[in-house]
Amino acid sequence: MRVKKPRGVFDILPDKLEKWQHLEGVVRDLAHVYGYREIRTPIFEFTELFQRGVGEETDIVAKEMYTFPDRRGRSLSLRPEGTAAVVRAFIEHNMHAWPQPVKLYYIGPMFRYDRPQAGRYRQFHQFGVEVFGCAEPAVDAEVIKLLLQFYEVLGLKGISLEISSVGCPKCRNEFTDALVSYIRPQTAGLCKDCRNRLHRNPLRLLDCKEPGCRGLLTEAPVPLNYLCPVCAAHFAALRNELLALNISYNINPHLVRGLDYYTGTSFEVMHAGIGAQNAIGAGGRYDNLVQTCGGPPTPGVGFAVGIERTLMALQDQGIGFPDAAQEGVFVVSVGEGTLRHALRVVQALREAGIRADRDYAGRGLKTQLKQAHRRGVKWVVIVGEEEISRGNVALRAMDTGEQIEVNESELIPRLRAWRA
Ligand code: HAM
Repeated sequence: MRVKKPRGVFDILPDKLEKWQHLEGVVRDLAHVYGYREIRTPIFEFTELFQRGVGEETDIVAKEMYTFPDRRGRSLSLRPEGTAAVVRAFIEHNMHAWPQPVKLYYIGPMFRYDRPQAGRYRQFHQFGVEVFGCAEPAVDAEVIKLLLQFYEVLGLKGISLEISSVGCPKCRNEFTDALVSYIRPQTAGLCKDCRNRLHRNPLRLLDCKEPGCRGLLTEAPVPLNYLCPVCAAHFAALRNELLALNISYNINPHLVRGLDYYTGTSFEVMHAGIGAQNAIGAGGRYDNLVQTCGGPPTPGVGFAVGIERTLMALQDQGIGFPDAAQEGVFVVSVGEGTLRHALRVVQALREAGIRADRDYAGRGLKTQLKQAHRRGVKWVVIVGEEEISRGNVALRAMDTGEQIEVNESELIPRLRAWRA
């Protein structure tokens, strides 16, 4: 019997992967110019990290984690997101002693056991950034600017930014009191999970997907209306910073993030063209997370981009990326004893940094040209006995069919000049 891949995961085949690599190149270039350095954390961590960091009552932790005991019975989980692990690394490597702020980025797979659908997978990939050690709203704005510039460099249009603030624990307490008083008379209409949430973590009522609960909550109090003066001032200052950066946004008081660690700023970037799962990136401030995970008090802010959803959005807009195959050269050999010569030409091209391939078996000219065509290369170099006798090769542009004879010593400079 054929073994198939599990539901909700996928292979990335070479054609697609070239798009991924392009996107990853954009990530690295941008992160570099904004002064972020890469961090790689393990794919699995102790389950407790996510329970404490992301929150035991969140759907992500309570329902969506891949959790398993290791051979000694310790509970491990595949990471459902990147922030908690980066925070753990921050603490473990005493990064609070590094020059502050510490600005880190990551690209990698995350795992959530959710119901798969377009744009929602069980293994998906995020590009994320985290900044530690600075509570200024200017950093929140910089992080948002970086997120938007990422989409801009990729050429993505039609995105919208929604911002809100969930406030600090003080605001949170006032808000949850108001929320509980509002909802208590209607407890009977809540689902079983929400009845539990009401006692254990009322904030999580706001991300219930049950239509009954959603209906009861449409008019419910929102965190933005319960900000303390300090959080309100931070949010106002953020809006000024965004203005200074020419960033337009909508304030969405109903914006609720599915993770418990947020304090203050929260934001999401949406793209209309990709269906129900339209959040292509999201983040916010988490000023208590380092402490919650056992480190010294350290403010933090960051975001994560869903790479699959970003690629879907680009595809929806018909935005193509440079096709690596198009850059290549295929070397065709014609006639007895030319195979060796073709090998030398291919090697010289490769050593000059030009993507080159050839037919290994020395088949007929037509077959080789067909092969070149199927690979979608831009140029074919024809190594024939006659040309060799003149110290030349023939160079054919596949798009126009135009063919010229060039001296072998001119081949590489010419290809380079055309590529530039
Ligand atoms: P998140 O909102 O859970 O935040 O995920 C960020 C992005 O990851 C989403 O906006 C979405 O594009 C993508 N994503 C999430 N789940 C899936 C899925 N099942 N399939 C495909 N894409 C998905 C976080 O993960 C936070 N760690 C972000 C953050 C960083 N906040 C502060 N720093």
